[in-house]
Amino acid sequence: MPEKHLLLRHRDIPDIHELEVYRKHGGFEAFRKAVTQMTPDEVTEEVKKSGLRGRGGAGFPTGLKWSFMDKKNWPHYVVANADESEPGTFKDREIMERNPFQFLEGVAIAAYAVQANRAYIYLRGEFWQVAAWLDRKIAEMEAAGLLGDNLFGTDYSLRIYTHLGAGAYICGEETALLESLEGKRGMPRLRPPFPPSYGLYGKPTVVNNVETLTNVPLIIERGADWYRTIGTEKSTGPKVFSLSGHVNRPGNYELPLGTTFRELIFEHGGGIPGGKAIKAILPAGASSAILPATDEVLDTPMDYESVPKVGSFLGSASVIVVDESVDIAWLVRKTIHFFKHESCGKCTPCREGTYWMDKLMEKVMAGQATPEDLEILYDVAKQIQGKTLCALGDFATMAVVSGIERFKQDFERAVKALVEVGV
Ligand SMILES: Cc1cc2nc3c(=O)[nH]c(=O)nc-3n(C[C@H](O)[C@H](O)[C@H](O)COP(=O)(O)O)c2cc1C
Ligand code: SF4
Repeated sequence: MPEKHLLLRHRDIPDIHELEVYRKHGGFEAFRKAVTQMTPDEVTEEVKKSGLRGRGGAGFPTGLKWSFMDKKNWPHYVVANADESEPGTFKDREIMERNPFQFLEGVAIAAYAVQANRAYIYLRGEFWQVAAWLDRKIAEMEAAGLLGDNLFGTDYSLRIYTHLGAGAYICGEETALLESLEGKRGMPRLRPPFPPSYGLYGKPTVVNNVETLTNVPLIIERGADWYRTIGTEKSTGPKVFSLSGHVNRPGNYELPLGTTFRELIFEHGGGIPGGKAIKAILPAGASSAILPATDEVLDTPMDYESVPKVGSFLGSASVIVVDESVDIAWLVRKTIHFFKHESCGKCTPCREGTYWMDKLMEKVMAGQATPEDLEILYDVAKQIQGKTLCALGDFATMAVVSGIERFKQDFERAVKALVEVGV
């Protein structure tokens, strides 16, 4: 059977979650190759050369991040971010549940590259079954001599542990995650210093998303040059797009970075149910600036460079499709209510701003907002941008600002109704 998937390999290879099956298909040979034939710096260099960028949202170059690890401060740690809390994102879960060893091999190679002897997988609290499943897979690796001391007859040792959060969206932010992993309340840290110089327990730490790490065995096994043949020049490799909302076939789709929204939504997702028109797209879950579904947007390649050019971000590529029946003001109200609830409260613009945006959106939806209220709402959102300790503050403003700017009619409807009755 031709190889259709590189990350969601379970769709082509039955039972790849079994260690025996995974190894039969070359599993753990990349880890062996790294540990026995490559220096840690060579591994980092290969990942750098591949152009792999973080799949957790920011698209930061992975090899570059590894190369920032402070080599004067030990021990080093690797932390896999399995918090997966962005509304509309459900790719990491499928990888961990169905192709767990490729992910765990990626964790192991990353750990070797930065010479960490301990790696942690931080999972959102709701993923307790996934954590138990991974614990079993880790135990199988230990029994097979793929984790533990003196791996492959070398002096390199590694142990991997899972850790469950308690269901807070902010714990997906890497420094809040580290605080939570240390047993503290999950609140972002002031940066700099960044985790590669001051991370877990104050030690140099690499934090990478589950999908990012799942790419790593492929790069080591087949080489950076091969990897670069997939995707675009600056956004290399395959990507799992989580498609949801008003589409006939929602689900995870593994496609090269640079695939257009149109291909994802209409070819793979089967188009919009009931023959309705597509109205808007949220390319990065609830954190997205909402895009009107124009031809220009639909023909935009989904990569880290192209989506910003049409006014949004790719983020973790959780593409939510919105049809013509949806009032965008209603959608904005949903997102702002979510962010108000999830704001950790550490910094004032986000804590107070999300509260006020929520209050004002409540008025809009109740048909009680005045034109001044809309102006204040827009102004509050603009005032938050760039003034918060972590990106959640900015995320909270994306739907508000883009909604008012690009779908004004949906906001004005409520205000107009008020004016018409003479208020
Ligand atoms: C509010 C907030 C929530 C986040 N949630 C997640 C998450 O659930 N999973 C994730 O991998 N990254 C999340 N991130 C991004 C992480 O901070 C970090 O950039 C990422 O784990 C780095 O891994 P990568 O370079 O492999 O993408 C979030 C960031 C912010 C600001
Ligand atoms: S921006 Fe929001 S979530 Fe982030 S630190 Fe400030 S209050 Fe907390």
